[in-house]
Amino acid sequence: MTLLTSVLRGTVQEIPPIWFMRQAGRYLPEYRDLRANAGGFLDLCYTPEKAARVTLQPIDRYDLDAAILFADILLVPQALGMDLWFEPGEGPRLAPALAEGDAAVLFEQRDIHDRLGPIYETVSRVRAALPQEKALIGFAGAPWTVATYMLAGGSVKDPAGLRAVVYDDRERFAAIIDVLTDATIDYLKKQVDAGAEVIQLFDSWAGGLPEALFDQFCVAPVARIAAALRAHADIPVIGFPRGSGPLYRKIAALPDIAAVSIDTGMPADWAAEALSPLAVVQGGLDPLLIVKGGTEMLKAADQLRASFEGRPFVFNVGHGLVPQTPPENVAALVNHVRGR
Ligand code: CP3
Repeated sequence: MTLLTSVLRGTVQEIPPIWFMRQAGRYLPEYRDLRANAGGFLDLCYTPEKAARVTLQPIDRYDLDAAILFADILLVPQALGMDLWFEPGEGPRLAPALAEGDAAVLFEQRDIHDRLGPIYETVSRVRAALPQEKALIGFAGAPWTVATYMLAGGSVKDPAGLRAVVYDDRERFAAIIDVLTDATIDYLKKQVDAGAEVIQLFDSWAGGLPEALFDQFCVAPVARIAAALRAHADIPVIGFPRGSGPLYRKIAALPDIAAVSIDTGMPADWAAEALSPLAVVQGGLDPLLIVKGGTEMLKAADQLRASFEGRPFVFNVGHGLVPQTPPENVAALVNHVRGR
């Protein structure tokens, strides 16, 4: 068992395990080098040799407790038949946008593993190269968040605002969520079979939903995915219903959820009181404090840890590291948390 998996099972550690969302990526010069010689971001994701190297880059640089598979949450809708590309400077695009278009493409029988096979190979390559004591985290987007991109055909300013589309034909939307949930289960089982020891579900756009929609489209699909993974192999699942405030309790209370990752806006003391009795807590240092660095960053890290003293806790950020993060600040933070 690794330090991360033991804490995710409820062990309290003096020094918490530490990893960061988006610990690989554009803020690292070695990533930008590799990316410049690849055919683009998706080419990186689908080339196991390169994706494995990118996954391991932050592990080579810092003393982290886990690697997270380098891939993207939008590979699942692509495997279901949607067109996916990245518009430079604008972000992801998916076509056809399902808010207006026909969702029939999603309901055609197809083998998602044809497309996703290289991702499983990346997982097994990373597991083979990773030191024993470090955990490998696999992931997927939670269905609501992935569906917002599918409805809009890409990123939108206010994903919760898509509820107008949901109310317009709730049954059609529920069917889309069901297809996504099934595909996500199949995808994650294969990641586990290939060597992933922890799974995180990114529900980055779970914030701002009324409770009834949150229950139907965030809690229920995440519960179904976590239960299916538990039945398949007993590995810890981390939920990340970013921005959902007090509704975090509903994800933390799910029987098959081991941990919740708290976002930047969540008060740590509230999380320790309300969430720690229900699940292990991970997170939620402001990633922009790591851009700033220095004593302000280190003090905030100490405060965060103090809130969870005597409770199982995984050190992480409240949302992914941003491209302008100086890598030396990450190194200083890791050393500080480790007591060096
Ligand atoms: O945490 C990790 O390091 C693992 C890899 C990972 C990526 N994306 C790599 C990536 C993970 C876990 C994701 C998840 C993801 N992808 C989410 C959920 C988490 C979050 O940040 O909210 C979302 C919403 C996406 C969709 C997506 N992919 C967006 C909005 C973007 C940014 C587009 C842009 O140009 O900024 C991506 C691209 C992406 N995914 C990059 C990386 C490293 C940047 C790719 C590049 O240009 O090199």
